[in-house]
Amino acid sequence: MRLDKYICDSLGLTRKEATKIIKSGDVTVDGDIQKSGAFKVREQACVEWQERELVKPGPNYIMLNKPEGFVCSQEDDFNHTVYVLFDEPNAYKWHFAGRLDVDTTGLVLMTDDGQWSHRITSPKHKCDKVYRVVLADPMGHDYVEKFAEGIQLRNEKELTKPAYLEVLSEKEALLTIHEGKYHQVKRMFAALGNKVISLHRERIGPIVLDPELEPGEYRYLSDNEISSVFIPKRPEDA
Ligand code: URA
Repeated sequence: MRLDKYICDSLGLTRKEATKIIKSGDVTVDGDIQKSGAFKVREQACVEWQERELVKPGPNYIMLNKPEGFVCSQEDDFNHTVYVLFDEPNAYKWHFAGRLDVDTTGLVLMTDDGQWSHRITSPKHKCDKVYRVVLADPMGHDYVEKFAEGIQLRNEKELTKPAYLEVLSEKEALLTIHEGKYHQVKRMFAALGNKVISLHRERIGPIVLDPELEPGEYRYLSDNEISSVFIPKRPEDA
């Protein structure tokens, strides 16, 4: 985003007013004075005006590598919420594009753009999610077929939608699902008499968890990652 637009949106100023304060030399980007409104502000830049950090104008799109023991919710009586992991004044405005259980780790996407998150969470768009699963017991030879055919979960009327199971070893697999029912992965394996002992989300649609992010770290999505969510799937992938 251009610096003058950043200042306009962040401080609620007109373009003329923003240009004036930029030219006055009071605006720094990552510690350097910037006097050009055309300066391109990178996603994670720190923009300050008179030595006060400005709130990054929305919409915001974030990927978090969720650690174990943190809940995807605004409040919780027993655990930390993931919001304590963000060093951003406006983080409380972001919502989840798909939550993870407290003991599940990996990719969580957050945003203040409801249309964008709807594209990910709405069943209509069948956005796929990939999980790395470690199980208590070895998988049966029929698991791949069972996941592909659909599994009957307790308290659900319909079978789960076809899911793709890639077996990595007798107790480890990558599972791709297109739904987001409550505790879905754990319930699918429970329905086959097995228990998930570790669950990690690696991908949501086209967005892959950045291997550079340690548990608890986050970053802003790139423009390509943001727009990739709106690129229609090929008919054969639907
Ligand atoms: N399925 C689960 O069972 N738990 C999660 O956190 C995500 C998917």
